[in-house]
Amino acid sequence: MANIFLIGFMGTGKSAIASTLGSSYAMEVVELDEAIVEHEKMSINDIFKEKGEAYFRDVETKLLREYGSLSNMVISCGGGTPLREENVKVLRENGTVVLLSATPETIFERVRYSHNRPLLNDNMTVEHITELLNSRLEKYQSAADIIIETDGKSKDAIAEEIIHRIAKM
Ligand code: S3P
Repeated sequence: MANIFLIGFMGTGKSAIASTLGSSYAMEVVELDEAIVEHEKMSINDIFKEKGEAYFRDVETKLLREYGSLSNMVISCGGGTPLREENVKVLRENGTVVLLSATPETIFERVRYSHNRPLLNDNMTVEHITELLNSRLEKYQSAADIIIETDGKSKDAIAEEIIHRIAKM
């Protein structure tokens, strides 16, 4: 089976849904952010602070290429992964791309107490989330094979919806 790539804004539930898919459907899961942290032996905040966002993005592309070339994986991408055209190419060539979507209000409720997202840490507001989400929406949507709305749905329901939609492709 081809890989499933989960993409979407921060707080749309990529990691949680990846792990539900992993346990309910016996697929191996890779969390790209975690792989970056392990590879660099540094937190995401520290990578952004000490090495800069461009460096982070280069490591993200390198590891996406490595994991993307495997098969039968659920790969939970970072919120910024589909922003680079070369990353989108890797996604589209190596599996089904599932976009998880949520409203800015839902996203805010899910991320408001977290401190490990450098692009939100200093500006944790619905307004900032709305602006950043809108600036990315077109790229997210054009990278996706399937779009799943997540507001008000359980993790199990979302995972089931993904499997059904992929089976119908
Ligand atoms: C980012 C999202 C984060 C992480 C980094 C940058 C983004 O991943 O890769 O902070 O640009 O949206 P999550 O979506 O898993 O929080």
